[in-house]
Amino acid sequence: MPAPNPAPNPAADATAAFTALLTAEGRALLDGLRDYDPSQELATATRLRREHPAELVSAALGQARLRQRAVAKFGAEDAYRMFFTPHGVEQATRASVALHRAQRFQALGVRRLADLCCGNGGDAIALARAGISVLAVDRDPLTCEVARANAEALGLSDLIEVRCADVAEVDTSTYDAVFVDPARRGGRGRIFDPEAYSPPLSWAIEAARTAPRAALKIAPGVPHEAIPDDAEAEWISDGGDVKEAVLWFGTEPGARRATLLPGGASLVGQGLPDPAVRPVGRYLYEPDGAVIRAHLVADVAAQLGDGGLIDETIAYVTSDELRETAYAAAYEITDVLPFNLKRLKAIVRERRIGVAVIKKRGSAVEPEDLRKKLKLDGPNSCVVVLTRVAGAPTMLLGQAVAKG
Ligand SMILES: C[S@@+](CC[C@H](N)C(=O)[O-])C[C@H]1O[C@@H](n2cnc3c(N)ncnc32)[C@H](O)[C@@H]1O
Repeated sequence: MPAPNPAPNPAADATAAFTALLTAEGRALLDGLRDYDPSQELATATRLRREHPAELVSAALGQARLRQRAVAKFGAEDAYRMFFTPHGVEQATRASVALHRAQRFQALGVRRLADLCCGNGGDAIALARAGISVLAVDRDPLTCEVARANAEALGLSDLIEVRCADVAEVDTSTYDAVFVDPARRGGRGRIFDPEAYSPPLSWAIEAARTAPRAALKIAPGVPHEAIPDDAEAEWISDGGDVKEAVLWFGTEPGARRATLLPGGASLVGQGLPDPAVRPVGRYLYEPDGAVIRAHLVADVAAQLGDGGLIDETIAYVTSDELRETAYAAAYEITDVLPFNLKRLKAIVRERRIGVAVIKKRGSAVEPEDLRKKLKLDGPNSCVVVLTRVAGAPTMLLGQAVAKG
C-alpha cells in the first residue's frame, strides 16, 4: 500500500522556503533582485526558473518585495542585507525610533536586556548596536529564524540570542532591563482593546515592573487616564509624524515626554495649566503631534513668552514675537478673517497664488475640496489655516517661517 501523504504543514513549508534563501544559491539570487521591478514579476520569475528551483525563485521574489518595503523603515543599506516576514516588516519599529530607545537604555546603564516580542529584530538590532546584550524572544518559529538571520547578516550574533518561546515562559530575573512590544495587529487588522494585544497590556505592565528598567510600546492614542502612575510616558515623532508611545518604568514616574526625531529634541512636561486664550498675534505655532499627544502644548506656549491659545479647544499657539522652538512649526500671519470661501477665492486671485499649503484644525472644511474650488494660479505661495478663533470659524493666511 502506498504511504499516505503527510498532513500539510504550511508553517514548516514557510520555514523551509526561508532557510533555502540562506544558502549560497538563495543569497546570490536575492542579491540579484535588489533593483527588480515588481511590475515585471512574471517575466523575472520565468527567466529565473530556467536556472533555479521554482520554490526558491518564488521565496526570493517575495523576500525582494519585503526588502523594498523595509527600506522606508531601515534604510537601504540595512534593508538589503536583512530578511523579513510580511507581518515582521509591518510591525517592526523604524530604525530611527529603535535607535533613540536603545540610546536611552544605554544611558540608563543597561547592559543585558530581554526583548520580549522581538519580531524580525527591529529593536534588538538597535539595542545590540548600542552595545547591549539582548535575549530576543518570539513565539513564532519563522519570525525567530528571520531574527536570527538578521543578527547574523548584520554581524550582531555575539550580542543577540534569539529564543523561540512564549514570553510568559521566559525568566527575565537576571536581566537589568526588559522591553515589551506586544503584537497589536490580529487576523482582522489593528487591535484597539489593550487586553486583546498579544501578550495583553496588563501582562506586559507586570513584566515591565519586575525589571529594574523597562520600556513597553503602546498605541500613541492611549488615553492619559490609562497610563499607570509609576510609568513615564513618551511620545515619539519622526519627521513630524507621531510613530509610537512608550511607557518607561524605572525612570521618572508620572513624567510626560515628547521626543522629536530626527533632531532628538525631548521635552518633559512641567505640569503647567492650559495656556490662556488670547487674540491672534503676528505668529502662529503648530505644535508637533508628539507634543499634542503628550499634552505639552502649555509647555511650548510658555517657551514662547507671550504665547497663548487662539481658542480653548484648538492646539494652535499664537504670539507677537518670533521665538525659536524645536517643538512647533511657526507661521507669520498676514490676515485673520472670518471663514468665507468667496473672500478667500478673491484673495487668491488678487495675490496670484499658485501654491497653497492648506492646514486645518477644528474646521469641517476638507482641504482638498477647498483646493479645487480655489483654482490656484500664479507665481506666489501662501499658507491657509482653517480653524476656530474664540469659537468662530476663521481663516488665517500667512507664510511658513524657515527654521534657523
Ligand atoms: C510588534 S511585533 C515586534 C516588533 C519588533 N519590536 C521589531 O521592531 O521588529 C510583536 C511580536 O510579538 C510576537 N508575540 C506575540 N505574542 C507573543 C507571545 N505570547 N510570546 C512571544 N511572542 C509573542 C509576535 O509573533 C510578533 O512577532
